[in-house]
Amino acid sequence: MPALPDLAPIETSALAAVAAASDEATLEAVRIAELGKKGRVSLLMRELGGMSPEERQTAGPALNGLRDRLAEAISARKAALEANALNARLATEREDLTLPPRPDPIGALHPVMQVFEELAAIFGDMGFAVAEGPDIEDDFHNFTALNFPEGHPAREMHDTFFLRADAKGARKVLRTHTSPVQIRTMVSQKPPIRIIAPGRVYRKDWDATHTPMFHQIEGLVIDCEVHMGHLKTCLTEAFSRFFEVPLAQSRFRPHFFPFTEPSAEMDIRCDRSGGEIRVGEGADWLEILGCGMVHPNVLRTCGVDPDAYQGFAFGLGVDRLAMLKYGMPDLRPYFEADVDWTRHYGFKPWLLPTVTGGLS
Ligand code: DAH
Repeated sequence: MPALPDLAPIETSALAAVAAASDEATLEAVRIAELGKKGRVSLLMRELGGMSPEERQTAGPALNGLRDRLAEAISARKAALEANALNARLATEREDLTLPPRPDPIGALHPVMQVFEELAAIFGDMGFAVAEGPDIEDDFHNFTALNFPEGHPAREMHDTFFLRADAKGARKVLRTHTSPVQIRTMVSQKPPIRIIAPGRVYRKDWDATHTPMFHQIEGLVIDCEVHMGHLKTCLTEAFSRFFEVPLAQSRFRPHFFPFTEPSAEMDIRCDRSGGEIRVGEGADWLEILGCGMVHPNVLRTCGVDPDAYQGFAFGLGVDRLAMLKYGMPDLRPYFEADVDWTRHYGFKPWLLPTVTGGLS
């Protein structure tokens, strides 16, 4: 039976190798060379089995002690190396906050958000506040309170996304329009009311001019003695400002919406002759929104007395307006999160539109 070698030089050389390891890979190599399955210390420990009980009594604790001290030194060194690596990384990631901003920022305001901001500035200047409602609506706010009769085909007209039914069988919907914000506003506020409600809406549709999620702005005015003349003047003024023309000529065509009576679609004058649409002049008309006088049933449902108050409402699609104003030919890239596209069509986020400072 070979006697154990002197353990002291082994310990000294192993500890020196641990201390000299300057990265985690080298340290791991030292651990394997000493304590791994075929490591120097592990092989020595294997010899304990062949020793006499007397020999084992001294060699056992000596080897165990060596193994434990080595393992401890390795784990201490490992922690120190990790801390060094972290400190080095933190040092390289330090930001100098005194540096000027990048001249060409990657982020840009999406044209849809820009149009939201422009219309909020225009209507804000006319005394409108901005209201909001939830994207997940119940049937009551999205349809019933807006005077859509139960089972009426107008409900189907909207290609609604329904959520799973709850225990009582009621199915919530992804709102198909921003009109439910009219209801929420009339229920929670007393007239006079003047709001616009920008937001996302959802319908089962997908082609070059339709996406399953798109954006609308709803408008609602409730007061004594409001009539359709106010509606037309308000919208004509707003769109003249939006398209930055002196006076956008407009016309109303009769239409049907369950929640307004009378209802109309509004067109503004445009020119399509040069291959692109120019708003404000020309021989053509461009349909831009639906509108009308709020239906007495809708007022009554919301607790507003139709004999004392009237109101007008309008709803417009923002995505198409942005396409028109900023010349984007296709709707689909709006939602592809392509940085090159946003850079090209986007806006500087810190240049928010104002009616005095300019819109676009
Ligand atoms: N909610 C209608 C839609 O999405 C748009 C609309 C039309 C809103 C007329 C109105 C309105 O407020 O008066 O098709």
